[in-house]
Amino acid sequence: MNGHTPDPGRDQPDAVVAYIGLGANLGDAAGAVRQAAAELAATPGIIRLRLSPLYGTAPMDSSGPDYVNAVAEIRTRLDARHLLTALQAIEQAHGRERPYRNAPRTLDLDLLWHDGRTIEESDLIVPHPRMHERAFVLRPLMDLAPGLVLPQGDLPALLARCADQVIRPLSVPTISRKSAMSALPPIRLVVAYTDNRVIGRDGGMPWHLPGDLAHFKRSTLGHPILMGRKTWLSLGRPLPGRRNLVLTRDASFEAAGAECFASLDAALAACRDAERICVIGGEQIFRLALPLADELIATEIHARIDGDTWFPELPAGQWRETERLPQPAGDGGLSYDFVTYRRIPATEAAA
Ligand SMILES: NC(=O)c1ccc[n+]([C@@H]2O[C@H](COP(=O)([O-])OP(=O)(O)OC[C@H]3O[C@@H](n4cnc5c(N)ncnc54)[C@H](OP(=O)(O)O)[C@@H]3O)[C@@H](O)[C@H]2O)c1
Repeated sequence: MNGHTPDPGRDQPDAVVAYIGLGANLGDAAGAVRQAAAELAATPGIIRLRLSPLYGTAPMDSSGPDYVNAVAEIRTRLDARHLLTALQAIEQAHGRERPYRNAPRTLDLDLLWHDGRTIEESDLIVPHPRMHERAFVLRPLMDLAPGLVLPQGDLPALLARCADQVIRPLSVPTISRKSAMSALPPIRLVVAYTDNRVIGRDGGMPWHLPGDLAHFKRSTLGHPILMGRKTWLSLGRPLPGRRNLVLTRDASFEAAGAECFASLDAALAACRDAERICVIGGEQIFRLALPLADELIATEIHARIDGDTWFPELPAGQWRETERLPQPAGDGGLSYDFVTYRRIPATEAAA
């Protein structure tokens, strides 16, 4: 098994690629965009969805606070008309109201592109007639499909023409723990590291500890597991009994038995209904997710071992060890402890 097996969407001759613009500027706008993406992914006829990173933009054609914008790439069997109907149903479910023209919007979903086709009907024009002049569409679209060419030109050239439009990435570290907590299930990191915090070497782990593998299984079974593309390749197969999610910026990367996401935001949004989310590495993904995590299930191996990937130090004053269970020595005489750390509540940490 490898990451290049065709995904189910590709196997369907009638499945096509479409791009959807998502925008919101009322209430929890980022939450509304993430929720809409999750609803879109669950729509019958939509086979796979990748959400771009989220961006903040000043309103162009409407009033109110700044917008949160993103673009979703979908693989779908729905034709443009049915897709439009599905988008309108999601908008309505989010209580979109248009009390006056260009009023602020709870949620706005635009069909930008459908299989490269041109459609010109009174209520449906594809490609979207203004997408080529909007940075808040072009920028996230470039994250997903840098090589896409619109009738007016390629994305970098079109984006260069929008240099006067202010757009800023809403990167994960700027999401406050408070707002993320209200929107997301608890995030558990599951890791094994040595005294010098090594977690890997040459794309694998430089130890074999069956007791730790059993502990990993107990800690993750039944929960979605989120990993980086390199860790996915090191596993070589989806782990059973768990939803497997893979982070990659490579739009063409395919992982049979797993779902691929272009950003941490998008992956977390897809797990909003889970009881908890388990982040299982490697180093890049642990570093991304640590600021949002609630719990760390660590296997601390009492040895110094050479490696090329490490688990970050926990920021001082933010984490507390709540349990430590020493284990009998494993293969190669390595001894280790199962340790649980929990994030110290903000109110307590500030006291
Ligand atoms: N001891 C443990 O508990 C443990 C657990 C897991 C892994 N490991 C080890 O850790 C090592 C791998 O760690 P690693 O840090 O090299 O790789 P990794 O975190 O598993 O994967 C890195 C990849 O994730 C994708 N990625 C990273 N940031 C992203 C972002 N913001 N948005 C979208 N995609 C993003 C990129 O994929 P693209 O390049 O495709 O864009 C990147 O190359 C291996 O040796 C593995 O065995 C150890």
